[in-house]
Amino acid sequence: MAEATAHSIDQDDFTHVVKGIRYPPVVTEANLEAMLNFDIRDDDIVIAAYPKSGTNWMLEIVTKILSAGGRTDASSDDMVGKLEFQYPDEPRPHHVMLQECASPRVILTHLTPDTAPPGIAHPQNNVKVIVVMRNPKDTAVSYFHFLEKIKFQTGQKRFPSWDEFFQLFMSGKYNFGCYFDHILGWWQRRDDPHFLFLKYENMKQDLPKAVKTVAAFLQVKLDDASIETIAHACTFSSMKASLDNSRYRGRAVNARKGIVGDWKTMFTDEQSRLLDSKCKTKLEGTGLQFNFE
Ligand code: A3P
Repeated sequence: MAEATAHSIDQDDFTHVVKGIRYPPVVTEANLEAMLNFDIRDDDIVIAAYPKSGTNWMLEIVTKILSAGGRTDASSDDMVGKLEFQYPDEPRPHHVMLQECASPRVILTHLTPDTAPPGIAHPQNNVKVIVVMRNPKDTAVSYFHFLEKIKFQTGQKRFPSWDEFFQLFMSGKYNFGCYFDHILGWWQRRDDPHFLFLKYENMKQDLPKAVKTVAAFLQVKLDDASIETIAHACTFSSMKASLDNSRYRGRAVNARKGIVGDWKTMFTDEQSRLLDSKCKTKLEGTGLQFNFE
């Protein structure tokens, strides 16, 4: 695909660039500025993820763990909403609405450490940050299909074709910026005990193990039976119906396939080779690697 085509999409309406990162219109410049002064609470739990990496999945796991541990009555639908968003049907930005949320709050964000509130980028005391990561090929395919599903709701005139989207993803020019900068920014914090890193592919492979790891990180004591019950409730098939029926449009189109390896339905051999090579350049020596099958 010609770079010129990607450029024309790049310049399209309905997105804007702040400090080198492209955002959708729901992430306003004012909201991004407000991140600097966002008040973090000592018992906040943050889920940080590049879009389409399994944010809602982790939210479900965390709320079910908190609920089983008697720490919250809230459901995942009550916790929905990204920290940096200004939802069209809400008069107030989400970071303002979060001020009224009961503790413990579960805060979702697609921001990088450089753009997130200092209390999230450099957590102190009991603040906990869970970073969810997914292999870049499935992330890109999931993102592309998500755009397809919401295009009729956004009013945006033109959406990228798969080839155009691939180009934008590779060059880090789509919303929320470069996938690699994003995950590597968080990954730098891997030795900080305030952080837990989980990969989508590992969650798929052994969900009870992932649930147990998250519960231990959140210091919620659960027996094996409770872990199994939560894992069962958080499988794709268990979650799909409730996601499909969510009153939030982003969530209602969230559950698509929920598998590892769906990239093969979209990627050409050349695209796969290009992304493999980018992974090698960006991830070599970082200790970070992904399963693609
Ligand atoms: P697909 O589009 O590949 O199906 P996010 O919540 O960050 O937007 O991520 C959305 C992706 O997570 C979608 O991927 C969605 O299907 C998947 N997902 C949601 N719940 C899941 C679950 N319980 N198990 C596996 N994948 C899930």
